[in-house]
Amino acid sequence: MNRLTRLAFWRGRAPGFWRTFLSGGLVGVIVVAGIGALLVAPWLLTHRSMWPLERKFGNYAVSMAARLHGGTKSNPLAINRQALERGQYAYTGSCAQCHGATGDGTGAALSQALFPPATDLSGGDAAEKSDAELFWITKNGLSFTAMPGFAGQYNDDAIWALVAYLRALQGKQSSSSTSRPLVVPTPSAEELARAGVSGDPAAQGAAVYFAENCQLCHGGSGNGPGELRLRFPSQDDAYLTCVVRNGPNGMPAYSGAMLSDEDLATLVAFMKTLPTAQGQGGGEGRPLPGRPPGTPPAGGGEGRPGPGGGGGGRDAYSSPPGADTSACEPQRPGAGAGR
Ligand code: HEC
Ligand code: HEC
Repeated sequence: MNRLTRLAFWRGRAPGFWRTFLSGGLVGVIVVAGIGALLVAPWLLTHRSMWPLERKFGNYAVSMAARLHGGTKSNPLAINRQALERGQYAYTGSCAQCHGATGDGTGAALSQALFPPATDLSGGDAAEKSDAELFWITKNGLSFTAMPGFAGQYNDDAIWALVAYLRALQGKQSSSSTSRPLVVPTPSAEELARAGVSGDPAAQGAAVYFAENCQLCHGGSGNGPGELRLRFPSQDDAYLTCVVRNGPNGMPAYSGAMLSDEDLATLVAFMKTLPTAQGQGGGEGRPLPGRPPGTPPAGGGEGRPGPGGGGGGRDAYSSPPGADTSACEPQRPGAGAGR
């Protein structure tokens, strides 16, 4: 074949041939990629040890996502001691089970079980991230990892309070009391034995209490530290329902999607049986801002008028957008009266 006949050979095949040839190739690539994806996804779910550079790649992906979406806002509550205390409460019940009590990603119930493992928030990459990036990650979570998004449980102020507390864990906030993690007593066997799936509403409510992890903050019988001790300024059903639904002051909100009305009713019945609800064990009918003797406030208090000084502002730290926390207020006689 000389050069001319070769040219004629290829010319003769244009243009329909090329179109078929190229689209055939494309279909081939898509089919191979599809089969690959079908095999890779199940394999990824069994992948349990870090490859070289994988951690670096993961950190890069998280940083890029947070940088692209996070914006540039700096923490409006960075130097607010009340927020720091609320952030510590929220951290204790919502983050410590994965990231550890001190934020270093070890020693927690789930820290060893997760892959990728929960990040060390007390230093390293997390310390280098901006406030806005930490805020974005906490609010939205990270897909394909165990990191949940908290937009449904905490409003923006509560998330900024969490970010302030992360800075404290990183040693960037001088506060001797918040740098010590809170110790919430683990439920005792007797406390756990109160839970039952059938029987009276209080027993069912106890089961809901533990299933929803209320004990991670409030202890097995409302005996948590500091303001996490349940004191029940009002035993009114409407008040207790309102608190759980709206989550004021650093408590997460439990929406109808998380907790049905029926379950919440049993939970309320259970809470009314707790010793603190009956005026023992530190209850004494004190108003909400009061603290049991001998439990210093986690963050503020020394010198300054501490958290709870002004009743009105207290609800700012939690409740998702749109929640009506004012509905909880009338049931709190003396809230904001100071200590
Ligand atoms: C169920 C376990 C779990 C809980 C609960 C959890 N996290 Fe995470 N978190 C993770 C995991 C796993 C990662 C690591 C994801 C990865 O590999 O990039 C992570 C990553 C993060 C990061 C990114 C750190 C970085 O620099 O890459 C931040 C910030 C964070 N979590 C904050 C929080 C806060 C604040 C809370 C509580 C409000 C919380 N997390 C609760 C599992 C959890
Ligand atoms: C992440 C921590 C956290 C979790 C989890 C949590 N709470 Fe709270 N809760 C708080 C904080 C903080 C307050 C506010 C305390 C204050 O300001 O005195 C609070 C307040 C309350 C109050 C108001 C009465 C009082 O004595 O302060 C009730 C009732 C209550 N929580 C019940 C529950 C129930 C029921 C659950 C589970 C469905 C739950 N909490 C889960 C942190 C938490």
